[in-house]
Amino acid sequence: MPRVGATIRDEFPIFETATYLNSCSQGALSYRVRDAVYEWLAGWDANGAEWEFWVDRNETFRADLAALLHAEADDVAVTTSVSQGVSALVSALPLDGERNRIVISEYEFPTIGQIAHAQELRGAEVVHVCPDDDGSIPAERFADVVDDRTALVCCTTLSYRSGHRHDVAAIAEAAHAAGALVLADSYQACGAVDLDVRALGADIVTGGTVKYLLGTAGLGFMWLRPELHARLLPTQTGWFADEDIFAMSIADYSPHASARRFDSGTPPVPSLYAGVAGLSLVAEAGVPAIEAHVRGLATRLLDGLDELDARVPTPREPSARGPLVCVRSTDVEELVATLAREGLIVSSRNDNLRVAIHLYNVEEDVDSLLEALQENRHLLA
Ligand SMILES: Cc1ncc(COP(=O)(O)O)c(C=O)c1O
Repeated sequence: MPRVGATIRDEFPIFETATYLNSCSQGALSYRVRDAVYEWLAGWDANGAEWEFWVDRNETFRADLAALLHAEADDVAVTTSVSQGVSALVSALPLDGERNRIVISEYEFPTIGQIAHAQELRGAEVVHVCPDDDGSIPAERFADVVDDRTALVCCTTLSYRSGHRHDVAAIAEAAHAAGALVLADSYQACGAVDLDVRALGADIVTGGTVKYLLGTAGLGFMWLRPELHARLLPTQTGWFADEDIFAMSIADYSPHASARRFDSGTPPVPSLYAGVAGLSLVAEAGVPAIEAHVRGLATRLLDGLDELDARVPTPREPSARGPLVCVRSTDVEELVATLAREGLIVSSRNDNLRVAIHLYNVEEDVDSLLEALQENRHLLA
């Protein structure tokens, strides 16, 4: 039996005092991750610089993450954030010629929009793709604007502020027909949605360990379609992206042949300890089992919200949503604070209450939240 729900909950001390529904901001801390961070401190104390062991842990994370994405380790860069990886990626795109456009969905996380607009300084033009009235952004909206001037299309896999899931494969088909690359920021999906990167259709898939991968800040990943490695030469780089890290040469630029060319400087050692441990909990449960568990709880929540006659921007169709369910509020900050006083930890973006469900949540969490929302119905739109 996969360990999801009640059978894994005792790994996460926060549930002794709170109902935690905020994995879209930060995954809950487990005993396993805490122990791993102590292990890093103990090794540092006992042995000083454990370089070889640290570099080895970097490679363990790369391999474990690749397995999670149904990919090969050589196709995964270990990054310190989505921002670092994507900045290195766009540094490899010549954006001052005919193909200078970056298309971004309105649902991108701010860092993607900001990195795209920063490229205007290098000659890029940025095009925004907006949602339809129902809040979805169908693949056709991307197809409408993508052409032979498009270098890169950014379509987040799952919106951090509405819970909408993009049809990445259909968007990629339109982008590829025009010769453009596709980046799918999958931070809000990885660990809770089974991502087979080949089937997803994007050329580049990125994310990090803070949320559904149950690790901490300072660690991310970027998968690149292997055919791209040789073609993309990042000018934003670092010594861990070199073909031989310990050559210690200051005389040339020789990026690694694999996706490691998108790594950067000294790996984030404490975050690697936490990341490998967090990822192991996800891998043991199995992402398909987590996805099914999350879907069931999200459906229960959506049904309950219908009974409350709440306004819900997240789509009902299971294939168009994931672990994040959003609810419109008239005063979301007040609602988040009120729920926190009742021991329910959720978050907000724009006018939406964000409820994030993960492997450790159970039906009682959803029911407690619905009960509290009923009591505070005046704060729902
Ligand atoms: C969709 C998405 N992308 C990216 C990030 C964070 O990016 P970075 O790792 O650069 O801080 C977040 C964090 O909230 C996110 O939700």
